[in-house]
Amino acid sequence: MSIAVFASGSGSNFERLVEASRDQKWPVPIRLLVCDKPGAKVLERAERLGIPAVCVSPKTFADKAAYETFVLAELRKHGIEWIVLAGYMRLIGSTLLDAYPWRIVNIHPSLLPAFPGKDAIGQAFAYGVKVSGVSVHLVDAGMDTGPLLAQVPVLLEEDDDLESFTTKIHQAEHRLYPEVVYRWITGAIKTPDMEG
Ligand code: GAR
Repeated sequence: MSIAVFASGSGSNFERLVEASRDQKWPVPIRLLVCDKPGAKVLERAERLGIPAVCVSPKTFADKAAYETFVLAELRKHGIEWIVLAGYMRLIGSTLLDAYPWRIVNIHPSLLPAFPGKDAIGQAFAYGVKVSGVSVHLVDAGMDTGPLLAQVPVLLEEDDDLESFTTKIHQAEHRLYPEVVYRWITGAIKTPDMEG
């Protein structure tokens, strides 16, 4: 059994997850990075950390199902049982959802259901919220929807600008995500298929 992380961008959460999995000797290792953006910075991090990466642009496939069928074959090749989305800016389709029921988790930089979608930090800042935060949730077919596993608040204070607010959110993500993923893969967090 192993974990795949999916990412599209910088990959700071990916790196924190890999570090935590090694420092805390997780029973399930992170064995694969799946990236949908050739050239993304996360690929450099994977190389430095020695994690194999599969990176293909979905645009090179006929449709989402064909792309996900390719990804699924890679996941099976690497014995992947758990999928952790870390800045993967793409909706998961039925091919992967059906193959990994309640086995896909996502992090989002707001207190969902507020500010789903892209640039949640910028949306919350522009709105002028006093509190935003970070959410971790199981993935379903929606955009940043699915049962919540954890949330932490982050204050937007008088002297914060977008940059300092963004830094605070990312710091909260880097603390929260490894802790929640660890509890999820070790069964401390029950998923809907385990209940009742
Ligand atoms: C993170 O803030 C993550 O919560 C967000 O993308 C960023 C990726 O940063 N994800 C979403 O907005 C999902 N809807 P990273 O590449 O440095 O980990």
